[in-house]
Amino acid sequence: MEAFSLSSSSISIASNSALKMSKNGDSFMKNKKSIVYCQSGNKAIKSSGISSVLTETSALVSHDHGPSLMETGGLVLSPNGKDLALTSAVEMVDEGIGIVKFLRGKAFFITGATGFLGKVLIEKMLRTAPDVHKIFVLIKAKDQEAAEERLKNEVINSELFRRLKQIHGKSYQDFMSSKLIPVVGNVSESNLGLNEKATDLIAKEVDIIINSAANTTFDERYDIALDINTSGPKRLMGFAKQCQKLKLFLQISTAYVNGQRQGKVMEKPFCLGESIANEKVVHKNQQESLEFDKLNIEDEMNLVMESKQDLEENSVIQKMKELGIQRANKFGWQDTYVFTKAMGEMMIDNLKGDIPVVVIRPSVIESTYKEPFPGWMEGNRMMDPIILHYGKGHLTGFLVDPNGVLDVVPADMVVNATLAAMAKHGAAGKPETNIYQVASSVVNPLLFSDLAKLLYEHFTSSPYIDSSGSPVRVPTMKLFNSMEDFSSHLWRHAITRTGLGALSNLDGKLSQKLEIICRKSVEQAKYLANIYEPYTFYGGRFDNSNTKRLTGFLSKEEKQQFGFDVESIEWKDYISNIHIPGLRKHVMKGRGPSS
Ligand SMILES: NC(=O)c1ccc[n+]([C@@H]2O[C@H](COP(=O)([O-])OP(=O)(O)OC[C@H]3O[C@@H](n4cnc5c(N)ncnc54)[C@H](OP(=O)(O)O)[C@@H]3O)[C@@H](O)[C@H]2O)c1
Repeated sequence: MEAFSLSSSSISIASNSALKMSKNGDSFMKNKKSIVYCQSGNKAIKSSGISSVLTETSALVSHDHGPSLMETGGLVLSPNGKDLALTSAVEMVDEGIGIVKFLRGKAFFITGATGFLGKVLIEKMLRTAPDVHKIFVLIKAKDQEAAEERLKNEVINSELFRRLKQIHGKSYQDFMSSKLIPVVGNVSESNLGLNEKATDLIAKEVDIIINSAANTTFDERYDIALDINTSGPKRLMGFAKQCQKLKLFLQISTAYVNGQRQGKVMEKPFCLGESIANEKVVHKNQQESLEFDKLNIEDEMNLVMESKQDLEENSVIQKMKELGIQRANKFGWQDTYVFTKAMGEMMIDNLKGDIPVVVIRPSVIESTYKEPFPGWMEGNRMMDPIILHYGKGHLTGFLVDPNGVLDVVPADMVVNATLAAMAKHGAAGKPETNIYQVASSVVNPLLFSDLAKLLYEHFTSSPYIDSSGSPVRVPTMKLFNSMEDFSSHLWRHAITRTGLGALSNLDGKLSQKLEIICRKSVEQAKYLANIYEPYTFYGGRFDNSNTKRLTGFLSKEEKQQFGFDVESIEWKDYISNIHIPGLRKHVMKGRGPSS
């Protein structure tokens, strides 16, 4: 990624797709010692907006006492009552959720295992609970052999698994093969593309389904994103209904399903047909809302089919992309990705019947904080292209609200929260939907202006070394509130970098060429800024009360092994000492800045 160039028109949060930005470059335990978990946030509350959201928070706070809320029915009281009850309560908390105990002997069916988060999840499960029964892994492949090959190359042989390799030594491959069962499939196909044999086997054996598969490109074609992110969960829930001993359906969603909600946004599930645009109108004018278009997912699918019939072959891609953004904006979401993910949640909630559901909503997932080792990362994700272009001196400013917040969470914390929620609700077996936002913007906000300072400090003390062996000196990063100012800045910078200003009077042809290069690089940076704008000026802050409460249920040992306290993250340490070095090592493969 030497020049600031975008060779594809799609921006994604995710590894491979994000690289499209430049193809060239770069009542849980069911025994009597149960703790009752108060989940007041899982009732759909119809109104939104900052004030209603804050009211809801207060309600949560006043009614919730976290782990101290005990079901006394299970406690044996001493003659004088209180003391023994208190002791039992302490013992109960010390037992924690029982994550490892829960994983033991269970069978899992996981989608998205070849992805960034899926791998971190599998690694952690196999390392902390080597006696899980087995993990069926859905993999897109032409046949079984190809699926096995993908599992080996993309998962088993990944650098991420080096600690497991050390633990198992020579028997590592055997251990992995005994636990991971690749299954050919595709969430976009009917019955998930599973053959009869796989369907029968998984339906008979599986205890937990985890759906991490997604298309994460912000401006993906509407037909494709709907098929994977909305119909995918629907198909998977259909399959879940066939499973004979299923204990839980766990959906990996995103905190940004909250779309254009403003202020503190709570962990509440979506009901079918809910629309964020409608919430805003309800807030302003009850009468008007009655006339507002209702979101109907079936209508959206029909719209896609009908629109495609009318399109010329060569315009399908562009028109489908435009349609996705249009429909997302119409109903109050910023882009096709989060809109289709939100509809995926609606599908799950609508079809779940009595299957217990957990929805994990992480914000922006970045490199691992601690486990299996700090800084593991895959792909050039969300904020990373900007960091890397800045470090290389290609980008000296960006369109971003300096007082805005970048909501980031390390991948291992997301995985730990997922496992804790899974164990808790898998054991409880209640037919309800529990939402967990794993996010930092409310409890430990990282301001864009602070991030810019951290980047400057980092690349000043550890500059990138250019192809001639010289350190690249970076200026402080300029943050622009308006596209106009950002655009002028980009032009000035491009002209200086290419030397266009100095050459223009000397050679007409050369200056024309340089001008085209400048224009292209400015347009590409503007395109990037446009796509990111809903995130760099994001008005929502993700409440994580449920997630915090979940932390309270962990035992002391579990806190160490499965901690996900985002409040404890030191951003300076994480960004400078963990994340950027991780990017250099695992994404740029050593081509990053010198240290
Ligand atoms: N990364 C983030 O910052 C972030 C933040 C919040 C939430 N999330 C959510 O976390 C989950 C995992 O994200 P990630 O970052 O790990 O994404 P990722 O690296 O792009 O991985 C996506 C996974 O989904 C699979 N997949 C895509 N289409 C599929 C299909 N039709 N059938 C079966 N599998 C399919 C991919 O398989 P192939 O390898 O075959 O393509 C891959 O394994 C997603 O649900 C995402 O929405 C991610």
